[in-house]
Amino acid sequence: MPYEHLLVSVHGEGPLKTGLVQLNRPKQMNALNDRVMDELGAALLAFDQDESIGCIVLTGTDKVFAAGADIAEMADYDFIKVYKANFISRNWETLGRVRKPVIAAVAGYALGGGCEVAMMADFIIAADTARFGQPELTVGLVPGAGGTQRLPRAVGKAKAMDMVLTGRMMDAAEAERAGLVSRVVAADELMQEVLSAADTICGLGMPSVMLAKECVNRAFEGALSEGLTYERRMFHALFGTEDQHEGMDAFLAKRTPQFKHR
Ligand code: CAA
Repeated sequence: MPYEHLLVSVHGEGPLKTGLVQLNRPKQMNALNDRVMDELGAALLAFDQDESIGCIVLTGTDKVFAAGADIAEMADYDFIKVYKANFISRNWETLGRVRKPVIAAVAGYALGGGCEVAMMADFIIAADTARFGQPELTVGLVPGAGGTQRLPRAVGKAKAMDMVLTGRMMDAAEAERAGLVSRVVAADELMQEVLSAADTICGLGMPSVMLAKECVNRAFEGALSEGLTYERRMFHALFGTEDQHEGMDAFLAKRTPQFKHR
């Protein structure tokens, strides 16, 4: 399948290889719209079903992993539209259905939905240039793809509240200290490090690799579904507010937002 916004390739010499999926929408900072997420889901599922693939790596460009959901596309959405479409559930949760290991290789910005997609991977290896953040409140929303649920599980409540409520970014060193990423390496060594980790996984037995992934996930998924449903409804509700339109219009016009409900 030809992809408009992804580059897809296969790496490794052993019997099992690594499928690499690269987000490639650089002019929009890899902003995640329906097309990107449909393609991403299709590419991930194709590798998941391919018996020659043992591990999947998801990455972006040197400058940006992904700057979040596409604000230009969401700016005119309203509550009815996003509620009826169950907006972002349809094609954002595919990553969670992948049974083979997925490593996120993050350089540059991983913000909003970009940070959330990275957190849906099984682990994150970051370049020293990586910046993580959940800035949704600055455009009048709350995180809508699991950020309020997965970030506290990764870094604890205090840091998650700090990140979500202030919208500040965390650099790679802080992200490693906080447990959001498993390793930090120099930017020019990122892909080598990640593909080497993926190759190690490809050298193991797939049933135990896949079962180990299921087991570790069990440790985190107790009440997650409730949290995600609740989060999505809050995300939908915010499309009914003036502040969401103001936040997104201001972003697109490159001006400071004048939020009404302070
Ligand atoms: N959606 C749409 N377009 C985006 C975008 C996004 N999330 N992020 C960046 N862009 C676009 C910009 O509008 C700009 O387009 P033009 O060249 O046409 O003006 C282009 O990408 C380059 O961006 P900047 O000029 O802003 O680049 P910068 O280097 O100065 O800043 C940045 C980079 C810090 C990532 C900044 O672009 C930024 O803050 N982006 C928005 C981040 C954000 O708020 N993400 C959350 C989105 S909401 C969400 O994700 C909901 C959810 O939970 C699922």
